[in-house]
Amino acid sequence: MDNAGTKNETIIQVKHLDKVFGEEVKNQVLFDLNFEIKRGEFLSLIGPSGSGKSTLMNILGALERSTAGEVIVNGKNINNLNDKDLAEFRNQYLGFIFQFHYLFPEFTALENVLIPYYIKDFSRKPEIINKANKLLSLVELEGFENRKINKLSGGQQQRVAIARSFINDPQIILADEPTGALDTKTSRAIMTLMRKYNEETGATFIIVTHDREIASGTQRIVELVDGKIHKDFLPSEIGEATAWEELERHACVDCDTMKQQKQVKKDENFGKNKNDCKTCP
Ligand SMILES: Nc1ncnc2c1ncn2[C@@H]1O[C@H](COP(=O)(O)OP(=O)(O)OP(=O)(O)O)[C@@H](O)[C@H]1O
Ligand SMILES: [Mg+2]
Repeated sequence: MDNAGTKNETIIQVKHLDKVFGEEVKNQVLFDLNFEIKRGEFLSLIGPSGSGKSTLMNILGALERSTAGEVIVNGKNINNLNDKDLAEFRNQYLGFIFQFHYLFPEFTALENVLIPYYIKDFSRKPEIINKANKLLSLVELEGFENRKINKLSGGQQQRVAIARSFINDPQIILADEPTGALDTKTSRAIMTLMRKYNEETGATFIIVTHDREIASGTQRIVELVDGKIHKDFLPSEIGEATAWEELERHACVDCDTMKQQKQVKKDENFGKNKNDCKTCP
């Protein structure tokens, strides 16, 4: 496992990060972001729709370049890398899990898990096939190794995507709404899996979610609003009740806007559970 390094050392450092889309008509979506993430953190990134969560994830994942500022990962300033080095950096350090998992439907679960490895080394070594099989059993897909993706359920496909994200022993796993399309029970199972992997390997997780229950199960919660960091707290430090309060205030899971947020604050009917917000259309 290539997660060498001490816990509590900084693995990601973001300094004065701005992102502006568009040439003629400029749309700034991230404003002077500054934060650090420690090695081994299990962090959730929350915030209303359009607040810039995916944009930030894409920049951290070197899929998108920032307009200004620095992103330093493992001591390396990724702004200075050329496209070839960025691709190598992604494959060496990062694992990606997205809501629409981007698997190859005509390939089997095992083949999909192996793809990020084959990008760097096409030799079909028995060790790597063995490792891919082990990862599939870690995500409780034993017996499904040779089944094609299009013959698996949504939750099973998401677990294949998770196993795939682990194949190159990434130090950082970026998950953008990994449970977005799943029911509550499957979402919890997926979170448990990711947490277990985080504890066992020390890999750092950044998980975008709209689901406050999912966020409440992470160690640190960062909220983006309108491209700025609105909150950044550790539930263990502020206590469970206060953490819930903070999360309830963040937004409604259904409509998820700041306008709604203000209404939600005042709204007696707003509860802890999804769909409890009576102010939603
Ligand atoms: N490639 C792009 N070109 C232009 N504008 C973009 C691009 N990607 C995102 N944006 C804009 O940037 C803003 C932030 O989008 P982003 O996808 O980061 O939000 P988000 O917080 O992930 O939202 P959601 O919760 O709905 O996924 C939005 O206003 C969006 O329209
Ligand atoms: Mg998004």
